Amino acid sequence: MIPKAHLHKLLLDWYDSSKRDLPWRKSSEPYAVWVSEIMLQQTQVATVIPYWLTWMASFPTAKILAEADEQQVLSIWQGLGYYRRCRNLLAGAKWVSEHGIPTTLESWLEVPGVGRYTAGAISSIAQGQRSPLVDGNVERVYARLTGDHSIGKDLHSAAWVWAEQKMCSERPGDWNQALMELGAMICTPKTPKCMECPLSSVCVADSSNQSLILPRRSVAAAIKRLNHAVWVPGRNGKFGVRQIPKGQWWEGMWEFPRAETNDPFGAEQLRQIVGEGWVESFGLIRHSVTHHRITIEVSYVRTDTQSPELVWLTPTELAHLPMPAPQRRILKMILKIRSPET
Ligand code: ADE
Ligand code: SF4
Repeated sequence: MIPKAHLHKLLLDWYDSSKRDLPWRKSSEPYAVWVSEIMLQQTQVATVIPYWLTWMASFPTAKILAEADEQQVLSIWQGLGYYRRCRNLLAGAKWVSEHGIPTTLESWLEVPGVGRYTAGAISSIAQGQRSPLVDGNVERVYARLTGDHSIGKDLHSAAWVWAEQKMCSERPGDWNQALMELGAMICTPKTPKCMECPLSSVCVADSSNQSLILPRRSVAAAIKRLNHAVWVPGRNGKFGVRQIPKGQWWEGMWEFPRAETNDPFGAEQLRQIVGEGWVESFGLIRHSVTHHRITIEVSYVRTDTQSPELVWLTPTELAHLPMPAPQRRILKMILKIRSPET
């Protein structure tokens, strides 16, 4: 058993000399840390930086965010993906502006959209609480350091127990960030840099060369293939879009009418929205999100439909609308081939 103080010194000395200079690390405002941690959950640091800066300039406090227009909030998030995070942040900001900023791990957990990881991150990094956290990085570092061969939920809960036991009382926020930083910079999934690792002297994986097989992978979620048809209605220099209904993925954002091709009523629904008109096939777009592989067949329809579902906008106006990434690609593709005049 390695003495805890020894482990803390090895990792924190490394962190102090090697940590990345990230804009949110200059702030100890819980709200600023909160925004960064939500953005970082499924997105790379390099992508997050400009989004975080724009977000903080647009919504500098939770209260300002809580009062902001949802469409504006979504359009600033646009491109980061996984929009549920954005909605959760907005719901959380509303809760906080009513109940006040939480000051403990337990009270952070009451905020809508704040789970165990986020609560641990904010309360340790911004408020100096002794709250552990586990993300993919910490899980991997734990598995390698201790040689834990378990998978899935077992590995995950073992990592939480370990994180709790190894918590550093003097610098809880730095300790958590140092663990994540090690996982992101040194103990990486594919080619860990064990030669540069501050923990190699106390690591099981390094000494038995198991670093590349740990953590063992759990069986991946089965790949689900979906086929969608998207019909882009155009007339008089404008394209028709509709707002995605509540309860659907990407709700509240805007799209060209879309239906599942496997659904026998799909084409009929599209026909109802876009009305009569010649449907001209434009090609295929492929989009991956989590374990879904979506193939989208894109067509253009010159139409005079009066459907109340559609809002008619110029390409410039569309550029400011929150649209899911594949829809934005469709817009680009259509603009390359055809202007909406025809
Ligand atoms: N990944 C997510 N949050 C992080 C943080 N605060 N430091 C390092 N890596 C992270
Ligand atoms: Fe990871 Fe290698 Fe460091 Fe062990 S020695 S923690 S496997 S980078």
